[in-house]
Amino acid sequence: MTLLNNLQWRYATKKMNGQIVPQGKLDYILEAARLAPSSSGLQPYRVFVISNGQTLEQLKEFVFKEFPFNQEQIKDCSHLLVWTAWDGYTAERVGNVLLKTSIERSLPENQSEVYKKRLLDKYETLGKEWQENHCAKQAHISFGLAITAAAEQKVDTTPMEGFDNAKMDEFLKLEELGLKSVVIMPIGYRDEANDWLLSLKKWRTPKEEFVTEIA
Ligand SMILES: Cc1cc2nc3c(=O)[nH]c(=O)nc-3n(C[C@H](O)[C@H](O)[C@H](O)COP(=O)(O)O)c2cc1C
Repeated sequence: MTLLNNLQWRYATKKMNGQIVPQGKLDYILEAARLAPSSSGLQPYRVFVISNGQTLEQLKEFVFKEFPFNQEQIKDCSHLLVWTAWDGYTAERVGNVLLKTSIERSLPENQSEVYKKRLLDKYETLGKEWQENHCAKQAHISFGLAITAAAEQKVDTTPMEGFDNAKMDEFLKLEELGLKSVVIMPIGYRDEANDWLLSLKKWRTPKEEFVTEIA
């Protein structure tokens, strides 16, 4: 199966069958998420993995029922992955990543100091809201790679933003960690007999409309 076959195979699963995703496959998906590229390599996001049935039952209440249909995936999934992102850039967070990268690469420490100052000066002028959005955008790249990796493992996923972020943040005590929830992803296996979306054709904007080639 090629990457494109796997992307054709996957769909935003609306009903899962409760089957458990093996640890090896979960690890593979999380590793793809971890290996995602991010602006300046800062990886300003963290992933929470929830598999406890009782916790999932509680989290189900945070999902918008009307968005777009009855969102049963949380109840029937194997694991729920929650992407969270930094609530902004700080000298400590940025410095920590840059320093660790420099050490791993045997580069002089002061090199990361110069880069850190340049980044922080820039981010400061852009403001807190911009920073929060920027971190969330990086999280989406990791999220996309996890969807792709799951498809390769024949694990179903539902990318979801239809949930109450404030409640999720409170439940996971994210504020004290300087994080905010961004997107969630139940993973598991499609309920072939009961998922109304499975039989519907995938539709995407045609290539001619999607791609503009500039000679
Ligand atoms: C960021 C994002 C948020 C989404 N939120 C939801 C959601 O809350 N609930 C849901 O059922 N599907 C959600 N979807 C799934 C999309 O509706 C779906 O990916 C899109 O219609 C394309 O269909 P396909 O993924 O089945 O190919 C979301 C997708 C993305 C990428």
